[in-house]
Amino acid sequence: MLSEGLLVSAPGKVILHGEHAVVHGKVALAVAVNLRTFLRLQPRNNGKVSLRLPNIGVKRDWEVAKLQQLDTSFLEPGDVAAPTPEQVEKLKEMAGFPEDCKGSEHLAVLAFLYLYLSIGRKQSTLPSLDVSVWSELPTGAGLGSSAAYAVCLAAALLTACEEIPNPLRDGGHASRWATEDLEFINKWAFQGERVIHGNPSGVDNAVSTWGGALRYQRGQMTPLQRPPALKILLTNTQVPRSTKALVANVRSRLIKFPKIVAPLLDSMDAISLECERVLGEMTEAGLAPEQYLILEELIDMNQHHLNALGVGHTSLDQLCQVTGAQGLHSKLTGAGGGGCGITLLRPDVGQPTVEATKQALASCGFDCWETSIGAPGVSIHQAASLDAAIRQALNGL
Ligand code: MEV
Repeated sequence: MLSEGLLVSAPGKVILHGEHAVVHGKVALAVAVNLRTFLRLQPRNNGKVSLRLPNIGVKRDWEVAKLQQLDTSFLEPGDVAAPTPEQVEKLKEMAGFPEDCKGSEHLAVLAFLYLYLSIGRKQSTLPSLDVSVWSELPTGAGLGSSAAYAVCLAAALLTACEEIPNPLRDGGHASRWATEDLEFINKWAFQGERVIHGNPSGVDNAVSTWGGALRYQRGQMTPLQRPPALKILLTNTQVPRSTKALVANVRSRLIKFPKIVAPLLDSMDAISLECERVLGEMTEAGLAPEQYLILEELIDMNQHHLNALGVGHTSLDQLCQVTGAQGLHSKLTGAGGGGCGITLLRPDVGQPTVEATKQALASCGFDCWETSIGAPGVSIHQAASLDAAIRQALNGL
């Protein structure tokens, strides 16, 4: 067990195309965004393990000796095995949760316990430590906040337990892990995501681990040649929703209407492929106006498909109408049902139009910001190199 504290961060993501279809084996195109989750892990010798998640009001402490006495043999030692529903139920029992617990706070605590016990049980005794996580990402909005959380937890716990090396040992302000260590982080993070979401595709944790822009299909990721230099307006409708429930509803609709829903998923796959083709033609000078027109048409078609899958929401319709009035094209991103949407900003769209759009969206009660895409994946930092505001937020925990 390492004796020094660790500071890690991981980005959120935006899905350009392929949400929901990716759960059914189709292609998704996803990019990391420059909004990050930060985790501080401090080894202790007070016999306790503590978890602080101020964004969602979680403050939990456990006696290591009590956790040590629990029978955790149901967690396969050292193996990255998918958590079974029985394991999740057992964890709930251990954490003293009511049987029907579903809230994001409970699920975040369960994911922590799952990763802490699974990774920590390889040590002679479970480690005593404090873990604090703070995020710039809104929760439950489709920006991959739970994946960034799971990636940070996996990276910090694996490093603290010396399952993977600390890449900062060579010095520097921030560093990333070697490819095989990132693969290990990603596998564990996927299991954390499964505790939270049930049956995720794995795209969110992959983008948060690797960063940049990637094509994802059935666990296989291919980085896009270069992150597309697209300008995007990101809008949070502030309508809360559950990814788990939305994914389950799409599955039910597919079972109920296979002949109708399967072709929609095929068409979404073709949209991702067409978007990938267009982005692949991007040169240093960017895309030509007619290529932007194709991207806009793809956005419109996918938004209609997502509505047909049942994951739209009146707030997202409003987003499309308000941006459409300014000649801009939008779609939901992530699970839908509220949450976030993206609006493509063509290079010919002037700043006055962007400002007018932002104002119109703000007056609908939406939160809206311009974002750059293609941020670096999970990283480890020297505490002193972090932004003063982030340091202050973490120190206040
Ligand atoms: C959530 O960000 C994206 C979904 O496709 C679910 C998943 O891929 O696990 C809706």
